[in-house]
Amino acid sequence: MARIAVIPGDGIGKEVAPEGARLLERLGQLRGLDLQLEFFDYGADRFLRDGTTLPPEQLEAFREGYQAILFGAVGDPRVPDSRHAREILLALRFQLDLYVNLRPVRLLADRFSPLVGKGRKEIDATFFRENTEGVYVDVGGTFKQGTPDEIAVNEDVNSRKGVERICRAALEYARKRGEKTVWMSDKSNAMRHAGGLWQRVWKELAREYEDLELRHMYVDVLAMQMVLKPEMFRVVVTNNLFGDILTDLGAGISGGLGFSASANLNPGKIGLFEPVHGSAPDIVGTGRANPIATFLTCALLLEHLGHDAEARLVEQAVDLAVEKNVLTPDVGGTNSTSEVAAFVHAEVERLAGGSAS
Ligand code: NAD
Ligand code: IPM
Ligand code: MN
Repeated sequence: MARIAVIPGDGIGKEVAPEGARLLERLGQLRGLDLQLEFFDYGADRFLRDGTTLPPEQLEAFREGYQAILFGAVGDPRVPDSRHAREILLALRFQLDLYVNLRPVRLLADRFSPLVGKGRKEIDATFFRENTEGVYVDVGGTFKQGTPDEIAVNEDVNSRKGVERICRAALEYARKRGEKTVWMSDKSNAMRHAGGLWQRVWKELAREYEDLELRHMYVDVLAMQMVLKPEMFRVVVTNNLFGDILTDLGAGISGGLGFSASANLNPGKIGLFEPVHGSAPDIVGTGRANPIATFLTCALLLEHLGHDAEARLVEQAVDLAVEKNVLTPDVGGTNSTSEVAAFVHAEVERLAGGSAS
C-alpha cells in the first residue's frame, strides 16, 4: 500500500492537481496498485483564514507515513511576500531533505520546438538541480532598511556533502541510463568560494566515475548553448538557483511550462512531485491551465513507487493527446483543462484495461 498526500495549493494548482490525483486513483484501481490518496488544504486560502502554513507535526506525519506527495503550486497575489510558499513548498523540500530536484527537459513533438532545426532528438535532457542549499537557504538579512543606505544580503550556502550528493545523483542516473557525458554548471569564475567547492568535488568524482565523461560549462554559456545546441546536453547538474532558471529555459525550448514535470527526491524516502509551473494567477478559472505537466509529474511519481509500467501508460496517453492535438491553448490547442484531462483519463483507462502488473 502506498499513501499519497495531495496538496493542490493555489491558483491553477487547484485545477490540475485534482486531475492528477483522479488519474492515479483510477490507475490504481485498474492495475491493483493500492494507492491511498488524501487531500490537504495547505495554501493561501488556509493561510489567510487561520495563519496555518505547514504545521511541524504534519511534516513529521508525511515523513513517517507517506511515500509521495502530489503538489499543485503555491503563490497568491494576496500574499505578496510569498511567505506561505516558502513555509510550505520550500519547507517540504528542505525539511524532508529532498536534495534532488529532477527536471526532465523533453520535447513531446517536433512542432513544439521554438528552435529552428531542433526537434525531439535534440531536445532531451534531464536536469539535476540541487534542492536544499544555495541562495534558497534564507540566510541573510537587511541593514538600515528603509534608508538610502539600506543593505540586503542573501548568502549562498554550499556544503561539501550537499554538492557531492547532488553530483553523485546525476552521475548515477547517467550510468543507469547509459549516458556518457554529464555536465556540471556553475559560476566559479566569479563566485570562487562556492564555485571552488563544486570544482573540487567534480574533479574528485571524475577520478571515481572513469566510465563517464565529466564536463564543465559556466552557467551563462550553458544558457546560450541550450538554445543554440541543445543536443549537447543529456544530463546536467547545477545548484539551486541556476537549476531553477535553466529549467524554465528548458521548459521554454520544450513547449512551455504546461508540459514540464519535476520530482523532488531523496532516494528511499518520501518524494514530492510537482509540475515546474506556478499558480498562474493570470489564467485561473479560465479553463486554460494545461494539465499535461501534472500528468507527466504523476508518471514520475509512479516510477518512484516502482510502477514503471503504469508510468509508461500515462506517458503513452499524453503522447496520444499530443498526436491528436487534444491540448490547451498554451501549446496550440483549443481544448479546456477538463477536456484534455478527460481525454488522458479515457486513454489511460483504455491502455490499462489490459494486463495487470
Ligand atoms: P507561473 O509558472 O505561474 O506562470 C508563468 C506563465 O506561464 C503565465 O503566463 C501562466 O499563465 C503560464 N502557465 C504556467 N503554467 C501553465 C499551465 N499549466 N498551463 C498554461 N499556462 C501556464 O509563474 P509566475 O507567474 O511567475 O508565478 C505565479 C505564482 O506562482 C508566484 O506566486 C510564484 O511565486 C509561484 N510559483 C510557484 C511555483 C511552485 O509552487 N512550484 C513555481 C513557480 C512559481
Ligand atoms: C520552482 C519555483 C520555486 C523555486 C519558487 C516558488 C520558490 O520557481 O519550483 O521552480 O524557485 O524553487
Ligand atoms: Mn521555478
